Amino acid sequence: MNIERFPDGRTLSRELAARILAAIGRQPRLVLGLPTGRTPLPLYAALREQTPASGTDWSAVRTFNLDEFVGLGAADPCSYRAYMERELFAAVGVKAAHVGFLDGRAANPDRECERYEEAIAAAGGIDLMILGVGTNGHIGFNEPAPALCARTHRARLQPGTRAANAALFGGDVSQVPEEALSMGMATILQARSVILMATGAGKAAAVDAMVRGPITTRVPASFLQLHADVTVMADLAASPR
Ligand code: GLP
Repeated sequence: MNIERFPDGRTLSRELAARILAAIGRQPRLVLGLPTGRTPLPLYAALREQTPASGTDWSAVRTFNLDEFVGLGAADPCSYRAYMERELFAAVGVKAAHVGFLDGRAANPDRECERYEEAIAAAGGIDLMILGVGTNGHIGFNEPAPALCARTHRARLQPGTRAANAALFGGDVSQVPEEALSMGMATILQARSVILMATGAGKAAAVDAMVRGPITTRVPASFLQLHADVTVMADLAASPR
């Protein structure tokens, strides 16, 4: 794993935004995997700011987000889909037809997960996957467990993960759904290139376990050690010592 340290999250985010825009410049039909959460907010702000300045054209870029809450549709402001529209898609001009998203309101969640895998495959796979990491080492909603799912699946959220997502729900953890649909470990690991962002002291233990610990289902992010092209971009507080 390639570890890069930055003085703070803003500097890290600006650098990552510049790399993403350069990748789109080289490959206009880039297929991007994208995360939600608090960590990428400064990244999306930097992309909004740097896109016009760099003249980057997002009209052929395709995106696939990692996950979505079960029960929430695009019209719900608490959904990850609404978050992405607010933070990135509308501002940089990702075409609606090029947005891949799990539908949390799908009548048949299992079929929806299969559809998502098929859509990613039909797009030619994910070129660049951007990830955050949970304090317990989860990626997407692949939570620590005795066994992990390879493919996109329905996941039950751990209490700490629901608490970490409460900000999206007005700070009320009881409003955070108990389940989500999430890309699986293989869906993530099959991306050609992976960049994981980690900021803040709360992530230091997870980053350390991910980078230095054994590969274990108890730290799902540790499986990234098996990938040939992973970069961890961390601020000083989250950096492994
Ligand atoms: C959520 C998301 C993850 C994200 C994680 C960390 O559970 N499903 O994709 O990486 O939270 O969130 P944050 O960046 O807010 O710490």
